[in-house]
Amino acid sequence: MFPKNLIGGRNLKKPVSRKYSKPGTLHLKSMTNTTVVYVANESHLRYAEAVCLMIEEAAKVRGTGIAKRDPEYIKTKMREGKAVIALKGEALAGFCYIETWQHGNYVAHSGLIVNPDFRGEGLAKTIKAKAFELSKEKFPNSKVFGLTTSLPVMKINSELGYKPVTFSELTQDETFWKGCQSCINYDILTRTNRKHCLCTGMMYDPTKEAQKEDNTQQPPKKWKHSFKVYQRWMRYKQFVLTQLEDRKEKRMLKKNEKLDKKAQKIEAKLGKKLDKIQEKKTKLNPSKDEPK
Ligand SMILES: CC(C)(COP(=O)(O)OP(=O)(O)OC[C@H]1O[C@@H](n2cnc3c(N)ncnc32)[C@H](O)[C@@H]1OP(=O)(O)O)[C@@H](O)C(=O)NCCC(=O)NCCS
Repeated sequence: MFPKNLIGGRNLKKPVSRKYSKPGTLHLKSMTNTTVVYVANESHLRYAEAVCLMIEEAAKVRGTGIAKRDPEYIKTKMREGKAVIALKGEALAGFCYIETWQHGNYVAHSGLIVNPDFRGEGLAKTIKAKAFELSKEKFPNSKVFGLTTSLPVMKINSELGYKPVTFSELTQDETFWKGCQSCINYDILTRTNRKHCLCTGMMYDPTKEAQKEDNTQQPPKKWKHSFKVYQRWMRYKQFVLTQLEDRKEKRMLKKNEKLDKKAQKIEAKLGKKLDKIQEKKTKLNPSKDEPK
């Protein structure tokens, strides 16, 4: 049995993954019970590699093909104060960073990750809330958006005040969309002219929120959300964007097969007709074909 004090007193069935504990980056020995969420700084640079490793592993499990993050890039985010890190004692519990697009008009939270050993405890919620506050502080007029297939993330976003939006309302910065190229669903995005994909776009618009606050006459419209509705919506979307397309392809294949068969039949008929014509010709003009 793994000693309780080495994993911060958590009553875990399995120990905290050792793979995120490279010498000098992470230590499993944690004497505290609480997970603390910080705005990352220079003192957290040693966690950059572990963050990248955790993101890569999670992408493998999810099968989404999320782009690998470069530790140097993560370090830059930490130095700029644009990252949030969660630590349980010395152990890396979670991470997220801020990305800006279109000269800071749009802000997105990227690379959200929670150590598998600390999931389901509300940590992603706390990290996102911290990142959200940090974004509002650093870029008060920016629209904060997200693009995700993750139901927990959608739930967290909606609780923070994000609303589902069409892709055309998101940043049109090409570098942002280039990030989708490594996703296995990229063909759907291109096929639909960047109108739809399996991800859902969500956005928090500070100007709209301010208008709402100003409008004291009318009670604020509550956006009713339900996790079950999200799940149903995701299933429906997946069906429409993948299965319907598959069926369309199958129908096209069948049609093409039928056309090929028809063409073969016509070719065979024509061949026979040509043979007959040739026969007739040789009968009418036998001397031509006879050897002299
Ligand atoms: C997605 C992820 C960040 C969630 O982290 P977490 O700390 O377990 O999430 P939280 O505990 O804060 O849960 C947030 C909400 O989502 C719900 N939730 C979490 N995991 C869930 C799951 N697998 N299925 C359904 N709901 C889930 C929680 O119940 C919670 O809702 P509640 O407040 O009503 O109880 C984590 O699973 C992860 O790192 N996944 C791999 C990387 C990834 O998918 N990143 C997101 C890229 S956009």
